[in-house]
Amino acid sequence: MEKELYEIKDNAMKLIEESENKEALEQIRVEFLGKKGHLTSVLRGMGSLSAEERPVVGKVANEVRGVLEEAIRKAFDELNEVEKQENLKNETLDVTISGTKMPLGSKHPLTVTLDEISKIFISMGFQVTEGPEVETVYNNFDALNAPKNHPSRDMTDTFYISENILLRTQTSPVQVRTLKSQAPPIKVIAPGRCFRCDSPDATHSPMFHQVEGLLVDKGITMADLKGTLDIFAKQLFGSQVKTKFRPHYFPFTEPSAEVDVTCFKCGGSGCRVCKGSGWIEILGAGMVHPNVLKEGGIDTEVYSGFAFGMGVERIAMLKYEVDDIRLFYENDMRFIEQFR
Ligand code: DAH
Repeated sequence: MEKELYEIKDNAMKLIEESENKEALEQIRVEFLGKKGHLTSVLRGMGSLSAEERPVVGKVANEVRGVLEEAIRKAFDELNEVEKQENLKNETLDVTISGTKMPLGSKHPLTVTLDEISKIFISMGFQVTEGPEVETVYNNFDALNAPKNHPSRDMTDTFYISENILLRTQTSPVQVRTLKSQAPPIKVIAPGRCFRCDSPDATHSPMFHQVEGLLVDKGITMADLKGTLDIFAKQLFGSQVKTKFRPHYFPFTEPSAEVDVTCFKCGGSGCRVCKGSGWIEILGAGMVHPNVLKEGGIDTEVYSGFAFGMGVERIAMLKYEVDDIRLFYENDMRFIEQFR
């Protein structure tokens, strides 16, 4: 029996030495040391041995088991080490390869334009305020001196939510809110979204943006309005541009004007941007109507003011020569990325 055990050992050792991978090694372990392995079945046969032989054979069997277990463990360790070295070799990092660049986002052209407009007025001491997009008919029309039969009140022009609530058609209702909540001197701009029942085309969108301006103080005249807007136009379009005030009508201002700038593209000689006229209309403005000031609780004997309002899309289209307003809302990256 001892001889048999030593044969098993020699056999196993030879196989262990020759094994080239962990699967083969595991198979050897099961074959020799497992429950149904060679060594185990020899040990089972020990019952038939005499009392003197048993401890001697038992000792040899344990020795063989110990040697084999140790040999298998070592072989496993060696194979693991080889595997590790191989993995390390495959995993080596080439630190000289340039990294993958993450694409950087950019501001939307309307945001760029709005930021630019705001910055100019902020530099002149205006504060930025805001009002809600869902407004009362009172703030959007009545308090702004709009006649009861004014066409803009029509349901075909305005999105009504109920009889007294609507989506604001202009940022001018922020004037009313500001007059009612602040005491003069007032010097604010109010950017925001506006809504009108327009079918989308190259120059119309049911949602668009405006920037409102309101200044109320003692002794404010049309000269202050002209000076402020002339500085604004020069900062926005270039110091070479000139401004022109054209008489106009708005319910909430008297007198009212539309303001034109000389074409920043051709300098006034006439081109595609100014449609040959040399002038471009950029905004509406005027002296705040006494009815509006009174409705806002302002003493018109002491105070006067001016107001203006401009379309952000219109200014962006002029500045960047965009010929279709819908481009601003389609989020086509090829368009948006140009405003980096
Ligand atoms: N709210 C006017 C519009 O949507 C724009 C406007 C004109 C605003 C003159 C003003 C202003 O404050 O004085 O067409």
